[in-house]
Amino acid sequence: MTQQCFTKQQSADGIVEQGTQVVMKNATRLCSTKPIVTINGKFPGPTIYAREDDTVLVKVVNHVKYNVSIHWHGVRQLRTGWADGPAYITQCPIQPGQVYVYNFTLTGQRGTLWWHAHILWLRATVHGALVILPKLGVPYPFPRPHMEQVIVLGEWWKSDTEAIINEALKSGLAPNVSDAHTINGHPGPVQGCQSQGGFNFKVEQGNTYLLRIVNAALNEELFFKIAGHQLTVVEVDAVYTKPFKTDTIVIAPGQTTNVLLTTNRGTGKYLVAASPFMDAPILKPKLKHLPCTGPTQDRPLLVLHRQPRNQPLRHLREREPRGGRFQQRLLRDAQDLSPPGTFLQHKRRLHRRFPREAPGDVQLHRHAAGELRDDERDEGVQARVNSTVQLVLQDTGMIAPENHPIHLHGFNFFVIGRGIGNFDPKKDPKKFNLVDPVERNTVGVPAGGWTAIRFRADNPGVWFMHCHLEIHTTWGLKMAFVVDNGKGPNESLLPPPSDLPEC
Ligand code: C2O
Repeated sequence: MTQQCFTKQQSADGIVEQGTQVVMKNATRLCSTKPIVTINGKFPGPTIYAREDDTVLVKVVNHVKYNVSIHWHGVRQLRTGWADGPAYITQCPIQPGQVYVYNFTLTGQRGTLWWHAHILWLRATVHGALVILPKLGVPYPFPRPHMEQVIVLGEWWKSDTEAIINEALKSGLAPNVSDAHTINGHPGPVQGCQSQGGFNFKVEQGNTYLLRIVNAALNEELFFKIAGHQLTVVEVDAVYTKPFKTDTIVIAPGQTTNVLLTTNRGTGKYLVAASPFMDAPILKPKLKHLPCTGPTQDRPLLVLHRQPRNQPLRHLREREPRGGRFQQRLLRDAQDLSPPGTFLQHKRRLHRRFPREAPGDVQLHRHAAGELRDDERDEGVQARVNSTVQLVLQDTGMIAPENHPIHLHGFNFFVIGRGIGNFDPKKDPKKFNLVDPVERNTVGVPAGGWTAIRFRADNPGVWFMHCHLEIHTTWGLKMAFVVDNGKGPNESLLPPPSDLPEC
């Protein structure tokens, strides 16, 4: 087992400093070699270790031909939206040859999170784990593991991923699916191909290990399993859970899961496997059809849909070969405005653009806000600072119902309900779990069903929300929440750092 460490590690004063070089590197998998974009030449990228309440400084130097930005997935970024990372939302990208220092504090967070590129499809290879240990002297709320192991699940394409998505946008077809799933960068044994050997994890009998599992795959939900062993889930998305045992976990892109593994079986080799989750609705409900127009009282707040597969996306093809309309429009906005910039820089102006407000303090069933889709309207919704926002995320049967892992930047939310079929605003809220709902940053909306979440909008800024299947983000399953400054400095966004990249 090798741990990939950063060049500079934690210092005693609670500051973790890190230099990262974005560089191309040749990588061989499945008997074929291609250049990939990496951090410090590693795939997956290095794990960052820090402690709760540490300040993290990551200096990113861009040596590749692509624009780059890095998102710290799951980090709350209290008052530091400038360091959140999604390109054109909170920062202009770091251009080739440029440098940007991400500076943020891990306030009140501990557990496994991760980081990834947040522009184009670069996160296919630009990603890694972010391990936040509890404060010194604070134990885990479960038996102390003998050892810890980071497990990053990914996807591998033999060809260049930027070429794949560009092709798909030109043709209007769905992009090629990946050629392999990877565990810590290894695709596992391939017939007729002497690969570098799969991922091996040496354990001793009778010990307990903490596995920090990250799904960094672009487009696939995954099952994870270790032959003959039970796993005890103790944390998801850097929030401790009530421990429960299972032999298989399902993990969506964007999610993290910590499990305890006790090696209580005989000496031997046990297969560790990641395999894709196939979408199939549990039953065929009659789902809402689209498009929905205008707010109504009894509609879910957000309706999830996307451009249908296998149908030409003409406007995308003709007008925006790259990146989709949302980013293009932001770019256009940026050109219109002076100085040019991002959503976050022009937060005030967004108020005119996004007059709609998310429901305020627990106003159940007043669904008055935007839809997630590639459309000129509804790209952003305002939320009053410190208001409680409830969203019902409804999957629809546009072409085929499909599971969507929805990720919200800047907040954790509580998952208070979910169901199959259409959300019923009269009956379903009665079944909401307001006692011990799971808290996370990425949640699956079941195929042909709905999920209800709540969060407190206590973090001023502009916060992206999108499906973490990268192709769905590309196709437009995305929007942003605009949260105003509140009273006083503690409720206000800090001023932008002096090295914030320009567009
Ligand atoms: Cu992990 Cu906006 O993404």
